[in-house]
Amino acid sequence: MKKKGPPVDHEVNAGVNVSVGDMPPEEFRKYGHQLVDWVADYLQNIERYPVLPNVLPGDVRRSLPASPPEDGETMDKILADVDRLIIPGMTHWNHPRFHAYFNSSASSPGILAEFLSAALNGNAMVWQSGPAVTELEEVTVDWLRQMLGLPADFWGMILDTASTSTLHAVVAARESLADLNMREQGLTGRKDIPRLRLYTSEFAHSSVEKAMMTLGLGLGSVCKIPVDEQFRMRPDALAEAIARDRHSGMRPFCVVATVGTTSVTSIDPIPAIADICEREGLWLHVDAAYGGTAAIIPEMRSILAGCERADSLVVNPHKWMFVPVDLSILYTRRPKILRQAFSLVPEYLRTAHDDVARNLMDYGVPLGRRFRALKLWFVLRYFGVNGLANRLREHLRIAQSFKSWIEADPEFELLAPVHFGAICFRAHPPGVDDENQLDSLNERLLNAVNERRDMFLSHTKLGRTYALRMVIGHLRTEEVHAKKAWELILQELKRLRV
Ligand SMILES: Cc1ncc(COP(=O)(O)O)c(C=O)c1O
Repeated sequence: MKKKGPPVDHEVNAGVNVSVGDMPPEEFRKYGHQLVDWVADYLQNIERYPVLPNVLPGDVRRSLPASPPEDGETMDKILADVDRLIIPGMTHWNHPRFHAYFNSSASSPGILAEFLSAALNGNAMVWQSGPAVTELEEVTVDWLRQMLGLPADFWGMILDTASTSTLHAVVAARESLADLNMREQGLTGRKDIPRLRLYTSEFAHSSVEKAMMTLGLGLGSVCKIPVDEQFRMRPDALAEAIARDRHSGMRPFCVVATVGTTSVTSIDPIPAIADICEREGLWLHVDAAYGGTAAIIPEMRSILAGCERADSLVVNPHKWMFVPVDLSILYTRRPKILRQAFSLVPEYLRTAHDDVARNLMDYGVPLGRRFRALKLWFVLRYFGVNGLANRLREHLRIAQSFKSWIEADPEFELLAPVHFGAICFRAHPPGVDDENQLDSLNERLLNAVNERRDMFLSHTKLGRTYALRMVIGHLRTEEVHAKKAWELILQELKRLRV
């Protein structure tokens, strides 16, 4: 960390040898200012960093001492090591040419809120242990509900990731089978429970299967429903699968549909799926972790059509809403079921307010809950609804430009509709039609592009086809960055083909 302030004076250094208590306030102030300057410089000059670090597995670990220091070290030394040892091993998610996965960006208001949240160290186990933490969470989650056009009976809570949110949704779905008395009896040793079945599309995120593994329901209880030509779950195939399973003695209990699948951002037909769930009495969970955010744009609201009938829905402000990781929201119309599944109150957590206040620990696995709502609040207030919608609209516009460059180039092929900011495509030079050859060419192209380290692209498989996947959703990405990324892809393809 480059030193910005005056050299450390004797008094400040003296704090290092104090063996009890915290860092002295003057020292905190000094390094706090230095760190804020460092972060401001970092964000301002982010493009000077390679997106991908030049390290191999184990490099960072080998550069660090194997055991902790016996005595405290100076902040100067610690911060210098951030520059020397940590930064060279960072993949920079904040870089505007980070186009892999679903790129999450840390906005400045979000960063400031994280700093404050760490300082306040709030913990909303129960209302009393964090009145503001609890109530700001309730307020911000409801603000976002309104922004997404979800009905007022959707209650939400903040969790760390969509994987955790979906896990909680599947627990609630299972708990809703009242006759099983899952909370008391559990699953093991019971002969009265047939195989419970969950349905999701073959393009659903792996977190759905992970939830089933975690809950002891097993991958064998997941039925993957085939998709149509636009990668959307086929309601006819869903209805058939449910009927088939019932016929063979299994017990369907949950459907997980997706708005914005991970590979191609396809949107499952929620109204038709909701019809089936209502008819069959199944819990409908919607994974809108990525795509749901787009509903902030009024003209995109329709992507969540039918979701008002879902039992639960997850959306991740840490994906495409400029909130630093981690922050996921699980909405549900049936919070009582979540409470039934999770509330377990030991004596030491009982308070005088339990009848009138909401204790968030009652709705999920974690007891301790950090103050994540603060960064959501900062981001919502700083950008405002219109500011967020404008930024998302711009990403959609740039994604459409990128799509048009692919379509105009005879060496490339678009592989899926572009609904949001993700574009699936591949190099497909005229005359090369062998699928294995095309897969290999595109894999080499991906590696060549990423080895440059000045942009980061990821891939997926669509059926058996190897696809490149470019995502535009970073707060700092402008059209020039997408253009540059496109040029780099063209350059690397040219080099591979000579
Ligand atoms: C559609 C979808 N759902 C869930 C997840 C899991 O997200 P998280 O990392 O928050 O668990 C992802 C991750 O990209 C995703 O794309």
